[in-house]
Amino acid sequence: MKDDEADISAVLSIYQEGLDGGLASFETQAPDWERFDAAHLPAHRFVAVDVVSDAVLGWVAVAPISARAVYAGVVEHSVYVGAAARGRGVGKALMAALIESVTAAGIWTLQAAVFPENTSSLALHRAAGFRVVGVRERIARRDGVWRDVLLLERRSPEID
Ligand SMILES: CC(C)(COP(=O)(O)OP(=O)(O)OC[C@H]1O[C@@H](n2cnc3c(N)ncnc32)[C@H](O)[C@@H]1OP(=O)(O)O)[C@@H](O)C(=O)NCCC(=O)NCCS
Repeated sequence: MKDDEADISAVLSIYQEGLDGGLASFETQAPDWERFDAAHLPAHRFVAVDVVSDAVLGWVAVAPISARAVYAGVVEHSVYVGAAARGRGVGKALMAALIESVTAAGIWTLQAAVFPENTSSLALHRAAGFRVVGVRERIARRDGVWRDVLLLERRSPEID
């Protein structure tokens, strides 16, 4: 992901489009770049770009889950693909790039919280080697409605 105007604006607008779909997150409003940048580790951000137009099709990034040193190898990721580019392997390619990057850096667990209704995200994560750890029942409200989320994780088989 480049820290330039074109990538920043595409990433935030794909983020907002995903939030508007209602299945991606408890959040309803994408952050501004300053907050996005502060929340996500710079070393593990990727965009997928169209080979012809160079347009950004989707992005992936990770945030630390804890400030405790023992959990330095555990991060939570977000993956968002623009609506027009979904279902053609972009999310899969982003997850593959992310897994390679975090594994090379010694990060051993990726986790994500996914609404049970988000079937495309569940399919993407299962295909990338994630398992459902459990259901967090009525964990928070979106638009005033209590929602469950599934906690998913992928423990790297390569890091002992
Ligand atoms: C979830 C999301 C990132 C998936 O990205 P994508 O580019 O559409 O996914 P891909 O085309 O790479 O598909 C990856 C796998 O999931 C499967 N899949 C994708 N969408 C699916 C759907 N709607 N139903 C069933 N399977 C689906 C694909 O078949 C593929 O599996 P395979 O490798 O076994 O064939 C995308 O739908 C999105 O951005 N949604 C809105 C934001 C969001 O919900 N983000 C996740 C927050 S947890």
